[in-house]
Amino acid sequence: MIDPEWWRTAVVYQCYPRSFADGDGDGVGDLAGLRSRIPHLARLGVDAVWVNPWYPSPQHDAGYDVADFRDIDPAYGTLADADALVAELHAAGIRLLLDLVPNHVSHEHPWFRAALAGDPAMRARFHFRPGRGASGELPPNDWTSLFGGPAWTRTTGADGVPGEWYLHLFAPEQPDLAWDHPAVGDEFDDVLRFWFDRGVDGFRVDVAHGLVKADGLPDAGGTTALSEPHPAFDQDGVHAVYRRWRRIADEYAAPRVFVAEAWVPSNERLAHYVREDELHTAFQFDLLLAPFRADVLREVIDDARAALAGTGSPTTWVLSNHDVVRHVTRYGRAQPERSFADGIMERQRRGEPVDLEVGRRRARAAALLTLALPGTTYVYQGDELGLPEVEDIPDDRRLDPRFHNSGGADVGRDGCRVPLPWQGEEPPYGFGPGAAAATWLPQPKGWGPLTVAAQEHDDASTLTLYRRAIALRRQWWVDAPDLAWVPAPEGVLAFRRGDLACWLNTSGASVALPGPVLLHSAADAGEALPPDTAAWVRLPDTEDRSGRSS
Ligand code: NOJ
Repeated sequence: MIDPEWWRTAVVYQCYPRSFADGDGDGVGDLAGLRSRIPHLARLGVDAVWVNPWYPSPQHDAGYDVADFRDIDPAYGTLADADALVAELHAAGIRLLLDLVPNHVSHEHPWFRAALAGDPAMRARFHFRPGRGASGELPPNDWTSLFGGPAWTRTTGADGVPGEWYLHLFAPEQPDLAWDHPAVGDEFDDVLRFWFDRGVDGFRVDVAHGLVKADGLPDAGGTTALSEPHPAFDQDGVHAVYRRWRRIADEYAAPRVFVAEAWVPSNERLAHYVREDELHTAFQFDLLLAPFRADVLREVIDDARAALAGTGSPTTWVLSNHDVVRHVTRYGRAQPERSFADGIMERQRRGEPVDLEVGRRRARAAALLTLALPGTTYVYQGDELGLPEVEDIPDDRRLDPRFHNSGGADVGRDGCRVPLPWQGEEPPYGFGPGAAAATWLPQPKGWGPLTVAAQEHDDASTLTLYRRAIALRRQWWVDAPDLAWVPAPEGVLAFRRGDLACWLNTSGASVALPGPVLLHSAADAGEALPPDTAAWVRLPDTEDRSGRSS
């Protein structure tokens, strides 16, 4: 019997299919590879998998440029493989979430091709506008693309004469859809049903804050979408879309769920996306942006919880994903005072000294933190292996449009998308079968100790820690009372949930723990809490068990 509320406390594993496992030996991950590694997911103990876009795509933005929402990219497999994957995951007790990309399509999507060919009905589904200036030579407004440069590209007619411009908040190969056109909404209703009818359990919603633009597409006046209101993002009108989608999801007997990727200026704004009749959950990116500092982490946790308190939606924790520098590397550098946001996810800090040993200790500690907190937790593939960012990918092997469109000023996201190491001492580390081809992004030397095979039977490995923590979370934390902070030395974060507590030490000194250790992020720490570690402890019987704040 499926628990209809599973998504409130789930551990969800993010699978980047191109880099998870390669079934056919061409160096590109695929569905056959994913299916063959379901035992890894089951052994890890995750409740669900979110798979990044797997649709046919010319791959100008790693599949976030979708040419057909109802099929599988041939590089990954077929619809039959997808059906088999759903069945096999379900048999293993694991749900499947897909990635829905509703803000834009590929420039090769049939709608956009027809629009460029001049079909007025299809042009109306995108944002085509005349340019400004005497001969329309200037973009229609001042919006910039998140990948650099103007958010508009000018078209050229069949006669070679420059024509209107079209809007793309991301790459020029990703034209934005006009969500005020009824055909767009109808199309996505149908896409949802297409996958829900095949047994898919839900969707991560890409750029959930971007679909609806301010009327008249006014200038932004230099605001940056991350921290301030912007006419391209977080418009109130977007919520009608999510109310409509929720009604569709609720038509299904077994629950179908959504998680929003919404970069909005505050948690109060984020809370709007998870109102009772909208999306179920929304990623809490403040944690991913936070430095390894107890005071900041506590503020982030409090702020997120307070903002969601009235919504009924659980907080949704995430430490890394396919867009940001892996947290082993983030935590291995000098920590900013408040947030990594200023350095655009810290990518520009490439070249600054990094201590991966410290980073990995902190990453292991942060894993225990997120797995003990109330709510749901996402694990990005490779987190469970303690993988660092790969920072020395040669420029000519980089594929991310962020790198190319910025002329290399933004190093891009390839470094967190490197294929996983499964076994062996040399690339491709068992990524594909037999004498597999070189992987689509190069793997570094020296990953032998980080492979699944090397960590699997090592009591002190990060993989073992994750497996234990996820199993014990189900046993101890999932039904535990709500969080209450407890007093702790400076630089230490400590909370209890009933008679269990989680302590995390970001200070430079070792501290004593209040009870016997159930699980420690440092394999050799004993009963103390050294710097850069976390522990789950059982509080002595004499303690107040009510879960109220001390
Ligand atoms: C957010 C996705 O996570 C990112 O990878 C992608 O480039 C943009 N949305 C555009 O779809």
